[in-house]
Amino acid sequence: MQIFKGDLIFTPTPQGFKTLKGGYIAVSKGQVEGVYQKLPALFSNFKIKNFGRRLIMPGFVDLHVHASQFYQAGVGLDQELLPWLEHYIYPLEERFADPEFAREAYARFVEELISHGTLRACIFATVHRESTALLFDLLASRGIGAYVGKVNMDCHAPPGLQEVTAVSLQETEELIKRYGGHPLVKPIITPRFAPSTTPELLAGLGSLARKYHLPVQSHLAENKAEVAWVQELFPDQPTYAHVYHHYGLLGPTPALMAHAVHLTEQEKTLLTKNSAAWLVHCPEANINLKSGMMPVRELLERGINLGLGSDIGAGHSIALYRVMVRAIQLSKIRNILEPPRAPLTTAEVFYLGTKGGGSFFGKVGSFEPGYAFDAIVVEDEALITAGFTLEERLQKFIYTGGADNIVARFVKGKRVDCGPGDCY
Ligand code: GUN
Ligand code: FE
Repeated sequence: MQIFKGDLIFTPTPQGFKTLKGGYIAVSKGQVEGVYQKLPALFSNFKIKNFGRRLIMPGFVDLHVHASQFYQAGVGLDQELLPWLEHYIYPLEERFADPEFAREAYARFVEELISHGTLRACIFATVHRESTALLFDLLASRGIGAYVGKVNMDCHAPPGLQEVTAVSLQETEELIKRYGGHPLVKPIITPRFAPSTTPELLAGLGSLARKYHLPVQSHLAENKAEVAWVQELFPDQPTYAHVYHHYGLLGPTPALMAHAVHLTEQEKTLLTKNSAAWLVHCPEANINLKSGMMPVRELLERGINLGLGSDIGAGHSIALYRVMVRAIQLSKIRNILEPPRAPLTTAEVFYLGTKGGGSFFGKVGSFEPGYAFDAIVVEDEALITAGFTLEERLQKFIYTGGADNIVARFVKGKRVDCGPGDCY
């Protein structure tokens, strides 16, 4: 049994924070037993790891991020999606054919992710098998949780990235067999998006998802030009979402769809009925590429599973707490332009970035009994804490804090080291 003490804050529901000033968390075999304002006598013999007046909160969950694109996050963001992919992203991703380049770029990405407190992530690599394997190994060696996808593309890609359909499927299956058994870092089927995959590839990936009971991740209805292109390429499918659904890539196994900015009523209905679907809100990417505004409040009202994504490098901040802020800001702009649905609250975005996204991993993202003890410890005194409630201190941290404020990280109860900032 491990006992931690500090100022605890988490969101069991999107409706509000649960806080315990000077509270205790009991953790057994990496799982939360309970949180207590007063430590039960039952636990009095155990040593307490006392973080004093520091905040202890769940680690962040990034449901959509491109590891390869961290290298040039922030570059070329005066373009829209399709030209940005062609001019900036595809030439960058071609460089990941070189495992040495990949090793260095991925190592920096992983360290940056951990330093900002993201302890679970759903990650796109590139089409390259060897460099994707390096990313699996790196993440596993660092002890954080992830789904990692070798990207599949067999059409509408530059020659350096375009795969032969059978080879794409074969290499994907090789990685599934090699990494399928790891407890924390697992494979996920990753068709890049409908325009870069033929029907044969989509069908083959759907079969792999079913055969190995694997989740799926892709992009959905991000940008208007992209949506029009999908209609042209798949005229037999009524909508973009139906393309994935038809090939078994949006259910029956769990599926993460990033963006969902331009959904039709028919798509919203399909997603509402589909408990295997998670949508990922990537507000920074949607502003940067001028894609539009996801109808987050409406999707929440419909009961669709939702989480947050940094979408590095269409998004420019890997810090999920800053993505939370952007989600609030964008929801306010939406409310100004298209009332009356209310903007998002701090508790709602914090929920999306912890328990909401964490649900894709199982019991992750909260301090309720049975949840994995994934946590960060925040030293916020330098942000001026006197006179503020725990909820206000959390608000200050997500708006004005940074990686330097995070002084300890735990995944399933195990400490994840993160260099000199790790001082307690
Ligand atoms: N759609 C297809 N590929 C990508 C990508 O790399 N980033 C984003 N934001 N959208 C995509
Ligand atoms: Fe993306």
